[in-house]
Amino acid sequence: QLAIRLDRPVVLVGMMGVGKSTVGRKLATLLDLPFVDADDEIAEAAQLTIPEIFERFGEPYFRDGERRVIARLLEGGPSVIATGGGAFAQDDTRAMILERGLAVWLDSDVPTLIDRTSRKDNRPLLKGGEPRKILAELKAKRDPLYALAPVHVISGRGPHGDTVTLILGALA
Ligand code: S3P
Repeated sequence: QLAIRLDRPVVLVGMMGVGKSTVGRKLATLLDLPFVDADDEIAEAAQLTIPEIFERFGEPYFRDGERRVIARLLEGGPSVIATGGGAFAQDDTRAMILERGLAVWLDSDVPTLIDRTSRKDNRPLLKGGEPRKILAELKAKRDPLYALAPVHVISGRGPHGDTVTLILGALA
């Protein structure tokens, strides 16, 4: 048992493909806390996949659902919450996370994000464009906002377990 006592949820924020869900699941196991993936909760509530929500209702509708789901998850006591990459870039959602959670920014360089997002075809924002360009532009726009998280951890190309160790070090 690790001697880390948390009184609030740890909220993983950062770009799509950085590994928030994989790292979050491992971190939660080590901290003996529940793990929740906000995107999965949104999909479950809507009974639709994330691409379907974007396609049928558009991004503003998704952001609204995202904010409400994260608000609920933040009320649930200590846990590890993985958020979708855009959540912390929304002013109201970010304010809530900063107030009620412990935000951890997981950060990788663009080439790593490209590799990791290319393995799955579930990112509506990467459709209809050059993923390299879209990821680079989104990252440049969002990095100053992610930087408002109190903890910043670089996730390199190595195993996600290394990233988990870095987070544990930052939390201890
Ligand atoms: C998004 C990231 C996705 C998902 C949605 C929008 C974004 O989550 O929430 O496709 O705006 O960056 P992941 O970060 O888990 O891919």
